[in-house]
Amino acid sequence: MRFSLELDETLGQVWTPDEIANEMAREAFALIPNVKKILDPACGPATFSKAINQLGFKEIELICYDVDPRMYNFTSHINQKIGLKSETRNQDYLLDSSLENSFDLVIMNPPYIRQELIERETKEYYHQYLGAKLGVSIDKKSNLFALFLLKGILDLAPNGIMCAIVFDAVQNSAYGKKTLSILSEYAELISTKTVATPFDNVLIDAQILIYKKREKKITSIIQYQESKNNLFIPLENLLKSRRGTALPKRAPFLADTGDKYYKYSSPFFIKQNRLEGLVIKPDQRIYLTNSDLEKIDGFQDWMNERLEKYNLSENKKFVKPVKGSIAFNYYIRNAPRHLWNKDNIALSDNFYVSETKGDFPTEVAWLLLNSDQYLNRLTASARNQGNGLRKLQLYEYKNVLLPNWNLLSDVDIAELFDLSKDLIQSGAESKKIQELASNIVKKLMDL
Ligand SMILES: C[S@@+](CC[C@H](N)C(=O)[O-])C[C@H]1O[C@@H](n2cnc3c(N)ncnc32)[C@H](O)[C@@H]1O
Repeated sequence: MRFSLELDETLGQVWTPDEIANEMAREAFALIPNVKKILDPACGPATFSKAINQLGFKEIELICYDVDPRMYNFTSHINQKIGLKSETRNQDYLLDSSLENSFDLVIMNPPYIRQELIERETKEYYHQYLGAKLGVSIDKKSNLFALFLLKGILDLAPNGIMCAIVFDAVQNSAYGKKTLSILSEYAELISTKTVATPFDNVLIDAQILIYKKREKKITSIIQYQESKNNLFIPLENLLKSRRGTALPKRAPFLADTGDKYYKYSSPFFIKQNRLEGLVIKPDQRIYLTNSDLEKIDGFQDWMNERLEKYNLSENKKFVKPVKGSIAFNYYIRNAPRHLWNKDNIALSDNFYVSETKGDFPTEVAWLLLNSDQYLNRLTASARNQGNGLRKLQLYEYKNVLLPNWNLLSDVDIAELFDLSKDLIQSGAESKKIQELASNIVKKLMDL
């Protein structure tokens, strides 16, 4: 390993491989040959300093930022060693409002930090500052890297170049698309390139984006509005989704036919690959302790003993069952599908469990969600886990842009409702449902 300090994931630390950093620096410098002032707002272990140094430009000045004192020390040291005219600052780049219109080149691999993990007050400040400067409201769900892109453009001088490597969430999420739309008002996209899984131990793809800042802001051609009339809208505008039932450990909760209290167990569903069709049938039973169950003679002691065997404290017995009409297993191998929870039983936490928003019939949603047009979009947003396995995080699932079923006419919805009910009743094969659904989406939504 070229750098022995441990990565601090809370700071979004992943390093750009040297070959990619070198290529980014080369391409950026080719676009702006008389570059003088350069900014690396998230420098890490001097990755871009070294790449820039290799190009042998003399009259340049590099300003680096990193909140991690280790990276600050390391980069200061390297920049001095290689003789770059530079200044390294151990501070939060997003809080430095003194840099507007200052740089010929901004080169970066910004930290990928989910918005939930950013301290609330700091996040509010970021949003306020960028929103006011850019004259837009920034999507509250924006990952930190999106804010770096926006501030990067703000801090570029007109005609300056920004070259950034970012996680491909920038293309696959609603907040990412909004960010790109804002960027396109302030800068022209010169090139974009996908790089397959460039970062060590991170199984996601990245994009290298190169922008040239405009002399004057234009009004975006690709306006992103969260309108009810959009053809594509984030899944979370169509469905209320959450993770299924979380058991602290499975074994003490799973019921066995020989158990003394078996008849008090509840149906549960874990494994979709044994299922024929798309209608859930319970494949397990579990003990869902509640006040009624606790009144049954001997049950409490019996359950406590089981928990103790697995080092779980007594209060862990209260599991909150998660039920819902539509289930989606977020570990995707080859056949992603949405299952129908006919008997409204509790589902395991390998599923996202959803209901529709508004009064759109859940049965129709289930049918449409099983079309190629919907499933392909979900699969495309999932992250590669190796060996043909992909995983879709809950926030990624919620952000996937899907065809907007609210645009269907009432007559079409009524017909689809009857069809979905029939398919559920007859326990139709998944292949047949998928084919039917894909044809319907093609015909009614022209997709
Ligand atoms: C994805 S790493 C990139 C490091 C390096 N540029 C590279 O490409 O190898 C992002 C860096 O940003 C730093 N960072 C995180 N939040 C920051 C902030 N608010 N301001 C400045 N730096 C930050 C992290 O400590 C980390 O070193």
